[in-house]
Amino acid sequence: MDPYKYRSSSAYNAPFWTTNSGAPVYNNNNSLTVGTRGPILLEDYHLVEKLANFDRERIPERVVHARGASAKGFFEVTHDISALTCADFLRAPGVQTPVIVRFSTVIHERGSPETLRDPRGFAVKFYTREGNFDLVGNNFPVFFIRDGMKFPDMVHALKPNPKSHIQEDWRIMDFFSHHPESLHMFTFLQDDIGVPQDYRHMEGSGVNTYTLVNKAGKAHYVKFHWKPTCGVKSLLEDEAIKIGGANHSHATQDLYDSIAAGNYPEWKLFIQTIDPDHEDRFDFDPLDVTKTWPEDILPLQPVGRLVLNKNIDNFFAENEQLAFCPAIIVPGVYYSDDKLLQTRIFSYADTQRHRLGPNYLQLPANAPKCAHHNNHYDGFMNFMHRDEEIDYFPSRYDPARHAAQYPIPPFRLSGKRDKTVIEKENNFKQPGERYRSWAPDRQERFINRIVGGLSDPRVTHEVRSIWVSYWSQADKTLGQKIASRLNVKPNY
Ligand code: HEM
Repeated sequence: MDPYKYRSSSAYNAPFWTTNSGAPVYNNNNSLTVGTRGPILLEDYHLVEKLANFDRERIPERVVHARGASAKGFFEVTHDISALTCADFLRAPGVQTPVIVRFSTVIHERGSPETLRDPRGFAVKFYTREGNFDLVGNNFPVFFIRDGMKFPDMVHALKPNPKSHIQEDWRIMDFFSHHPESLHMFTFLQDDIGVPQDYRHMEGSGVNTYTLVNKAGKAHYVKFHWKPTCGVKSLLEDEAIKIGGANHSHATQDLYDSIAAGNYPEWKLFIQTIDPDHEDRFDFDPLDVTKTWPEDILPLQPVGRLVLNKNIDNFFAENEQLAFCPAIIVPGVYYSDDKLLQTRIFSYADTQRHRLGPNYLQLPANAPKCAHHNNHYDGFMNFMHRDEEIDYFPSRYDPARHAAQYPIPPFRLSGKRDKTVIEKENNFKQPGERYRSWAPDRQERFINRIVGGLSDPRVTHEVRSIWVSYWSQADKTLGQKIASRLNVKPNY
């Protein structure tokens, strides 16, 4: 054994108690005092270390998606899509890739109940042979806004009031009254599926549009979708109150217990693709994250299955320290010009440097499992064992060279600098269609939730009227029903 190598695993535990620096501790019960009553001596190094470590046990929680549960397993390709992508992990049916998945709620704190009406995060880290691929999605296929410039404001409106620390509908209704693009997302959030029964019974979606690129360099826009094999199940208000009242961690427990019992959660992965040459054929912009791609025109194509068959060993190491980032892609998968995705590419790694430190990608859960090499490692908490003399590039002394080039989307880009909105906003058609697809009792529950939010006494008449106008543009009858319950005159 090399005595200078860092041994981090609990497999190297000593059979007796030690200090952090390895010296034996003969008494872990009593502080070192003068006489039996004290005072305590500062020279009790073990006591000081123990308290100091405890005092620093918490790291900043995620600014969003703080509450989550994770599990491990594998992804297996079931259908050949090598004509669409040169991604190594998608190269052929039967190929398996280890994954870690983190499910989450979005708005509330690290210990908040898991029965709240809130989108759910569905983030998958594929440890591929060509580096990690993070598919950082949600359970709903669309998003509230389409420009990341608005994300911090949106999150502030959804988070508790900065004065009272209470989440308040009037602030939410006020903010989104400026954003009719949010209507489609509200037809998911305020629908019956707004509170998933647990993490096993919900769908997932990459939400943003990505690009698949094949060996020849041909690109296709792609959306990713996860479908649970055990079906989608949700909680209505009474059930959510009952379950959440009895156990504020019911979804974490369900995931953990299911895996421990050998009842492994499974999802099928589907994609929808659009040839970029055809992107103008639709009455919406395919890169607009507030839109779904109609499945009758752009059918779901099966790709593989995700099986979660292993619980995490340690919550801190494999949940708190886990870091997902939509910028983390592999050859054969690329971003698109979806404006929201472009903002996400920056934001995640930035927050993780703050939350976990500059070497967060060296942490075991985040590090690639394939061989990797570069010179970005010094800084706080670099614990990589390196003995090379060359830490610059290029060098005639370092045999590591550039990797082989792989294809990226070949699109030509042009346009003048501008801060503007997209051309085809089309904010009302899809929410209206979705509402009309529901049975009357489902529509009724949706209306009740919308009216509930707008009934907050601090929602002004102006804001109510704006919402009535928006919902009327999605569906005239829906607008009329909301207006009559709120006693507002529809104003088309
Ligand atoms: C511009 C828009 C967005 C920004 C700036 C943003 C930013 C963030 C940030 C800062 C975090 C915390 C990450 C961490 O501390 O590790 C986060 C987490 C997350 N975001 Fe976003 N987000 C955006 C939109 C979205 C969208 C559209 C989705 C769904 C596709 C999404 C899904 C998630 C998920 C699942 C997590 C939790 C990841 C985990 O489990 O650790 N976000 N986001």
